[in-house]
Amino acid sequence: MNDYILETKDLGISFGGLKAAQNVNIKIKKNQIYGLIGPNGAGKTTIFNLLTGVYKPTTGTFFLDGEEICGLSQEKINHKGIARTFQNIRLFNNMTVVRNVMVGLHNDPAFKCTVWESFLRLPRHFKSEKAMRERAKELLKIFDLDDERNNYACNLPYGKQRKLEIARALATNPKLLLLDEPAAGMNPHETEDLEKTVRFIRDEFDLTVLLIEHDMKFVAGLCDELTVLNFGTVLAEGDTRTALQDPEVIRAYIGG
Ligand SMILES: Nc1ncnc2c1ncn2[C@@H]1O[C@H](COP(=O)(O)OP(=O)(O)O)[C@@H](O)[C@H]1O
Ligand SMILES: [Mg+2]
Repeated sequence: MNDYILETKDLGISFGGLKAAQNVNIKIKKNQIYGLIGPNGAGKTTIFNLLTGVYKPTTGTFFLDGEEICGLSQEKINHKGIARTFQNIRLFNNMTVVRNVMVGLHNDPAFKCTVWESFLRLPRHFKSEKAMRERAKELLKIFDLDDERNNYACNLPYGKQRKLEIARALATNPKLLLLDEPAAGMNPHETEDLEKTVRFIRDEFDLTVLLIEHDMKFVAGLCDELTVLNFGTVLAEGDTRTALQDPEVIRAYIGG
């Protein structure tokens, strides 16, 4: 049993001369909702790109539940248990809401049927389709999206698209869920709702959440601990309240 579900060790990446992340050490305990904050350009999304295999680090490594998975492909990392949402929403716009979630379910062994079974439309194909649709509907219900299931993703208002993205990420059954500015563009009511939903899915799916967010009320409401990045390096870390009162952290935000 590992104390930490995620542990990064001296993680860093350079783009040409720019050190977008440098010596980043983050430790997240199982079932924590952990924050990653910092001014624009601090390197937050870059960390998500490193953790999901979009970028390979220039230095350092990271461990998921004690297993070093740095360097694996995006698909393998997702199979190992890291799923994410994107700062700029990425949905299949020309697919229905329920289909978007079903895409996330395709790798689940519970719904497996062979390519041939699918191609020949054998009974197992239909059974697995039906089971997947049911599971997708359950997931949509958590986000209050079940009534929207037959609409096209592109027709949903912004706040609902953000929630749909989380539902799709959840469908891959992650141990660690990375949320990149999940409350961006949401109104205060939606944000409050999202806060409850994040807590609910953490408990219900027994997972750990790492979230990037600029809404400090949202962060303080959800995260007991966080890491503050500035110019790619860790400026402060630990207890949320203490970190948010740190004069250097305040200066970094005002400066930015
Ligand atoms: N693929 C890339 N190529 C070059 N520069 C990049 C790339 N990705 C990120 N950066 C740079 O790294 C820095 C951190 O970006 P990012 O992680 O998106 O910041 P944040 O999410 O904290 O706002 C920025 O200066 C950005 O321009
Ligand atoms: Mg970002």
